[in-house]
Amino acid sequence: MIDLTDRVALVTGASGGIGESTAKVLAENGADVVVTDVVDGIEETASTIEETGSKAIASEMDVTDEDEVEAVVEATLDELGRLDILGNVAGIFPTHTLEEMTKNDWEQVIDINLTGTYNCTQAVLPAMREQNYGRIVNVSSASGGHIGWSNDLAHYAASKGGVIGFTRSAALDVAQHGITMNAIVPGLIDTGAPQSVAEEEELEAGVQMTAFGRMGEPEEIANAVTFLAAEEASYITGAKLVVDGGYTLV
Ligand SMILES: NC(=O)c1ccc[n+]([C@@H]2O[C@H](COP(=O)([O-])OP(=O)(O)OC[C@H]3O[C@@H](n4cnc5c(N)ncnc54)[C@H](O)[C@@H]3O)[C@@H](O)[C@H]2O)c1
Repeated sequence: MIDLTDRVALVTGASGGIGESTAKVLAENGADVVVTDVVDGIEETASTIEETGSKAIASEMDVTDEDEVEAVVEATLDELGRLDILGNVAGIFPTHTLEEMTKNDWEQVIDINLTGTYNCTQAVLPAMREQNYGRIVNVSSASGGHIGWSNDLAHYAASKGGVIGFTRSAALDVAQHGITMNAIVPGLIDTGAPQSVAEEEELEAGVQMTAFGRMGEPEEIANAVTFLAAEEASYITGAKLVVDGGYTLV
């Protein structure tokens, strides 16, 4: 049984979708959670968590702003005493044809999805090294290595493929400090994000590409993050855990 009692987690992009669900499932398993995002919703997520008996802190935090990230990590250590788990979930998912894509579109996606993951990781590592313990879970995407239902995502695919490369290489660097780093590779998850970029027909075609013939629920990703965040996942590092209902099987 997973028991995260006395563990402290920081989750990015936790106002809604997969991040919110991850924060809640970590808390249901005993962790205290710092709930961060750039949009409204962190207070609601934090209040729900407190109902489970875990501590929760809501902090506005833009993953592209290194100073802000460092300040939130510092406040976490001051208020909760440690930092064991980082869930790098924040991400954006805009579509642009390559022809229309501007350098600014490209940089925005890379900055949030890839550099944001790097910024948060660098900020938590000193505390994790000192504790000689840490669990970092990065949310990538099937789009990072498998081109399926939606095109016009070259920047997104590059950012999420980058998250896999970062995870695998950095896992080697941090292993000596008792820290694991793994990536989750979700397929189509019913958070509203896929619906915001795809027509209904296109989305339905994507759903039909999954072995289960349905989208995943945010909790199904949160459960996988929580497993990798647990002590029980002690011999797993640099791994890609595909959670896609069989979407990349064909
Ligand atoms: N939903 C899917 O089908 C799917 C599939 C594969 C991967 N993913 C990945 O899962 C993660 C969560 O996606 P979701 O579907 O829950 O979408 P979502 O839009 O509900 O959640 C993403 C969150 O990230 C936050 N965010 C955006 N920019 C930020 C920034 N600069 N700093 C901090 N937070 C920021 C948003 O405000 C939002 O709350 C993303 O990284 C996404 O790429 C989602």
